[in-house]
Amino acid sequence: MQNPEDDSHCPASGAVAADGESVSLQLTNMTRWAHLMLEPVLESGGFAVDLTAGNGHDTLFLWRRVGPEGTVLAFDVQSRALHNTSRRLAEVGAPMHRLESGQPIRSPEKGVFLIRACHSSLAQLYEVHPVAIIANLGYLPGGDHGLVTHQGTTLDALSRASELLAAGGRLVVTAYPGHPGGQAESRAVQEFFASLDARQWLVLNLCSGNRPHAPILLVAEKRRLRP
Ligand SMILES: C[S@@+](CC[C@H](N)C(=O)[O-])C[C@H]1O[C@@H](n2cnc3c(N)ncnc32)[C@H](O)[C@@H]1O
Repeated sequence: MQNPEDDSHCPASGAVAADGESVSLQLTNMTRWAHLMLEPVLESGGFAVDLTAGNGHDTLFLWRRVGPEGTVLAFDVQSRALHNTSRRLAEVGAPMHRLESGQPIRSPEKGVFLIRACHSSLAQLYEVHPVAIIANLGYLPGGDHGLVTHQGTTLDALSRASELLAAGGRLVVTAYPGHPGGQAESRAVQEFFASLDARQWLVLNLCSGNRPHAPILLVAEKRRLRP
C-alpha cells in the first residue's frame, strides 16, 4: 500500500466525493491539500497539466476550476487509467480529446486532452505555460500495484514542468514513501524541490510529523521576476 495507515489519502478511496467536493479535510489528506494549494492559481480559461491521470480525480478537479474556456492535459501510461479518467470526465460533459505519445503539442485548444504516454513526454510541449501542474505519484488505486511511477522519469517530468510553468504558477506533487521504490522516489522528489533556486521559487515541503511512511506533499510557486 502507498500509505499503510489509511488509504483515504488516495483520491480513489472516498476522500473526494463523486461530485468532486471534499467530504472531510483530514489533517494529513494530501490530496485535499494539493487541491487547496492549486485553487488560488486556477481561473476560468486557465491551462493546467495532470502528470498522472490515474482515476481522474485530479484531472476532474483541474477541469472544474478552468471550466469550458480552459485546457487540461492529462498524462498516464495505463489505458485503464485513461479509461477511468474519461468516464469521470464524461459524467460532467467535459469535451475530451485523445493524443498519442510522440506527438509534439503546441497551443492545444480548449477541453481535456488525455495522453497515453509517460509524463516525461512533457518535453514535447512547446510554447505553452501552464499555471498549475499536479502529479500524484505511485500506483493506480484499484489497479496493478506493481505499475508505479519511477524516479528517473518523474524527475525528467518535474524538470520540464518547472521550465514550462507560468510565472506565478504552482507545481504540486504528492509522493508516497510507503511502497517499494517509493522511498527513493520521494527522497529524489524532495531533493528536486530543495534544489529550486530560492530567488525564483517558493517551496513548501509538507509531511506527517509522526508517520514516516505517510504521503508527502511538495509545492513550488514560480515567482514573477521583476523586470
Ligand atoms: C496515484 S495514481 C494517480 C491518481 C490520480 N491523479 C487521480 O486523481 O486519481 C498514479 C498514476 O500514475 C501513473 N503512472 C505511472 N508511471 C507513469 C508515467 N511514467 N507517466 C505517467 N503516468 C504514470 C499510473 O498508471 C497511475 O495511474
